[in-house]
Amino acid sequence: MGECRVYFKQFLDERCGCASYLIASRQSREAAIVDPAIDTGQYDELLRERAFRLKYVIDTHIHADHVSGARRLAEKHGAELCLHESAPVTYPFRGLKDAEELPLGQLRLRILHTPGHRSELISILVINPPRSSEPSMVLTGDSLLVGDVGRPDFGGGDAAVQYESVSRLLRLPDWVAVFPGHFEGPCGKGMCGRPSTTIGFERRYNPLLRLERPEFISTLAGAVPSRPLNMVAIEATNRGREDAAWSMLTSLPPVEEVGIEALHGLGADAVLLDVREPEEYAYGHVPNAVNLPQAELATRLAEVPRDRPVFIICESVMRSLRTTQFLRQMGYAQVTTVRGGTAAWRKSGQRVVTEEGRGKPRVVESEWTHAGGTTASAGG
Ligand SMILES: [Fe+2]
Repeated sequence: MGECRVYFKQFLDERCGCASYLIASRQSREAAIVDPAIDTGQYDELLRERAFRLKYVIDTHIHADHVSGARRLAEKHGAELCLHESAPVTYPFRGLKDAEELPLGQLRLRILHTPGHRSELISILVINPPRSSEPSMVLTGDSLLVGDVGRPDFGGGDAAVQYESVSRLLRLPDWVAVFPGHFEGPCGKGMCGRPSTTIGFERRYNPLLRLERPEFISTLAGAVPSRPLNMVAIEATNRGREDAAWSMLTSLPPVEEVGIEALHGLGADAVLLDVREPEEYAYGHVPNAVNLPQAELATRLAEVPRDRPVFIICESVMRSLRTTQFLRQMGYAQVTTVRGGTAAWRKSGQRVVTEEGRGKPRVVESEWTHAGGTTASAGG
């Protein structure tokens, strides 16, 4: 039965917690790549080694946390660049419709429109008709995640719509394997960390999917992680409105770090940059700290001086670490992360500046809503 075989590979990017996929027919040697990372060399190599011909490159949605490699890859291999027909991008693409099937050798990639995280988000069912007319796998983008669902609050999503979309996915048979767009990172708020699951397991044990509709919606509207590093520049790049592929953190340079006690002895020319969200900053920040949310960093890079010592602070450490690494990547020499962050400052009994009438922020800090390592000395 050599004529019905499939090739399937999942690529995991530890830096942003993203998963991408290559699916191919071993019969026709045609391949599709879904949600490619900006490092497209890994796919080129595999296509060459396996002698696959790239037919489709599909982005499940406009990503806000990483720059997509889809356009670059499609152009290089003469493949069709595909997104849902409603995708708000400035470049040409093949617009996919709900229930449409893309032939890939003997395989069929059936498109399901599953908005909620973003309005144009699609899931992709993989069907191998010589074996079964039933799907064996579903690639869910940021709709259904392992133990979680994609957050609806940035990029024009909608919690009620997400409820309908994941309910639709849960009507698939138990055995269908689920391959999400993320296994870590800020696109959800409680991902399990495993890179795949099944419909049956999620229907039974995903904590959000056991909620009734009103509770599901209010939970998604509750506490959220901060917006991703450089989100504004990344989203604009993926829409074709900007060309800021440089805004991706692609290296892990070692960074200098100090504890909060160092904040007492900062020189007059030093800048203390608070990279949390405005609502967190307003609720309480270290005196003299200036707010520049990490999501806006690349867009507002000119505001960060290159000729003065810059200290980066967040709530604990993850955002300041990533920001410092990014500034190092951009050639900033005098940049240091403040370990322990505003939480350590507050805990040590020091005064924080609070803007009057500001309530508790929705944004919550958790190490687990960030991808990648937590130490400043991560080499490479
Ligand atoms: Fe996403």
